[in-house]
Amino acid sequence: MRIGVFCSGGDAPGMNACVRAVVRTGVAQGHEVVGIMNGYQGLLDQEFFEDRFAKVASAPVSTSQAPSTPPAMTARSVSDWSRHGGAFLGSSRSEEFRTPEGVAKAADILRAHGIDALIPIGGDGTFRGAVALGSQWEGRIVGCPGTIDNDLKQTDYTIGFSTAVSTAVDALDKIRDTAESHERMFLIEVMGRHSGYIAVHTALAGAAEVLCIPETDTNIPEIVELLHNLRSRKKRSVMMIVAEGDERGDAAAISEQLKAAGCAYSTRVVVLGHLQRGGSPTPEDRLLATQLGAWAVAAVEEGHTGVMCGRDCGARLLSPFEETFDGHRPIPQPLLQLIDVLAK
Ligand code: F6P
Repeated sequence: MRIGVFCSGGDAPGMNACVRAVVRTGVAQGHEVVGIMNGYQGLLDQEFFEDRFAKVASAPVSTSQAPSTPPAMTARSVSDWSRHGGAFLGSSRSEEFRTPEGVAKAADILRAHGIDALIPIGGDGTFRGAVALGSQWEGRIVGCPGTIDNDLKQTDYTIGFSTAVSTAVDALDKIRDTAESHERMFLIEVMGRHSGYIAVHTALAGAAEVLCIPETDTNIPEIVELLHNLRSRKKRSVMMIVAEGDERGDAAAISEQLKAAGCAYSTRVVVLGHLQRGGSPTPEDRLLATQLGAWAVAAVEEGHTGVMCGRDCGARLLSPFEETFDGHRPIPQPLLQLIDVLAK
């Protein structure tokens, strides 16, 4: 089989480890693996990964849309990829691919290049694209969940989440030092788009006192009361984790609302932003990415298509793409209760 692999959407630490696993497993099983650059847009532009180890694929194709035979990656192409953040295959969010014409063009390109199966690594947007492509193309598509947001269902974790939380907790620890010295409260804004997962895990691991996430109501008077309480108990510093998707606005906006309501602490705002997307993946992310990549190749061989390959309590779980982005992935209630109990 000729298997295409690519990364799509926001990059996530561990994507490279996943590509490595796909390539090495695929090659070991006698397949040709083609790296598609820059996500769906790279597919439309027929950009393939090429390095000094690349082999020209054995079955040449010639159509007006196929300027060259895609080079096959080898085991050496992905040497030392696991420990690096970013996406060596590049990533993108493609406007052209969102159109019916773009999807049809992508299907034609895949046929012209003799690609039998695709392994996209990405989040909900990537899988919505995979559903659209699956309606126009007869090849197999098995996806791997790669997003720092951990907002997909049918997998315990997504690739990149562990590293993003680790980065955020590291930042929080550092900010706590200065907050303690100056008796301040910091509002630390973390990513997650519409999901509070990164915020919840960061708050718990970093022992933050207050959490604002889109999944719960952010009640300003209640927070102000808690802050007065903490102040009267001589708490020197307060860490408030704000998920970027909170319904009250971003960390700066919430800081203003707290000040207006009589906040007991002097406040500062830190937005962690894209820091959370970079850096060397944690061992957890490398392991998850490696397992998922190898499992995805096996799933393709077994004839599965239209599914995401997740990990559920240590085991492979294949789920139709639609189930992975259907509705909001809920935050476990006990985690939220724990944050409340520990803060008080
Ligand atoms: O989906 C990953 C993510 O990092 C979100 O947490 C964030 O809202 C978004 O991507 C940022 O996207 P961009 O890199 O396009 O600014």
